[in-house]
Amino acid sequence: MPPALELRKVGKAYREGEAERVVLRDVSVTIARGEIVVLVGRSGSGKSTLLNVIAGIDRPSAGTVVVDGTDLTALDEQARTRFRRRHIGFVFQFYNLIPLLTVEENLLLPLDLNNRADAKGTARARELLERVGLGGRGDSHPERLSGGEQQRVAIARALIHDPALILADEPTGNLDAETAASVLDLLDTLAREAGRTVLMVTHSREVVGVADRIFAIQRGALVERPR
Ligand SMILES: Nc1ncnc2c1ncn2[C@@H]1O[C@H](COP(=O)(O)OP(=O)(O)OP(=O)(O)O)[C@@H](O)[C@H]1O
Ligand SMILES: [Mg+2]
Repeated sequence: MPPALELRKVGKAYREGEAERVVLRDVSVTIARGEIVVLVGRSGSGKSTLLNVIAGIDRPSAGTVVVDGTDLTALDEQARTRFRRRHIGFVFQFYNLIPLLTVEENLLLPLDLNNRADAKGTARARELLERVGLGGRGDSHPERLSGGEQQRVAIARALIHDPALILADEPTGNLDAETAASVLDLLDTLAREAGRTVLMVTHSREVVGVADRIFAIQRGALVERPR
């Protein structure tokens, strides 16, 4: 089985007029299946840029991104989007739930996009909602939920299509410390149970504590930190 993620000499630079700003340079790393990895770094160091490159939302300026054995850099945008829908789960800082859809419909969205929103999918959505402690709330709209509840829905949504890789960009940046801790604990439990691989940007000390590996971005380079 291929590793969940392999980056080979990944670089990313943004052009601004005449100038070029190098955000990532020669980033190489292999993340095994089932690992929970935390990414830290100062604001503007390139954490979101790296996540977007791994998700195939953005293209690297150099190097190769291989997710679950597929080289994303060899795919065109349409194929990358298709790949992302199937194999990647994304949890955002501000949840990104769709306000016009109910909680259950939000959960079913990744299955819908993969034409898998059948009776089995609905059963799985309900089971996941139970797991995140929102069993009775499937028919509610996201705006009726608290921030922590919305993020738990977003976590369930990121898991529902059995992605090879879950990416989370400061998933608790918007929550109070106690709620953040319970949301992170949930993500950790669900991911470990299912043997999922998680790459998460966070500043929370507690998460850094449960991570299998910790990386920092420093001056464009990815540096592994001792645990
Ligand atoms: N589309 C873009 N065009 C030009 N520069 C960009 C673009 N996107 C990001 N950058 C720059 O790349 C650098 C890294 O940004 P990024 O958003 O990855 O940082 P970050 O580590 O996620 O920061 P934060 O912790 O504040 O979220 C910043 O200097 C930013 O200005
Ligand atoms: Mg960011």
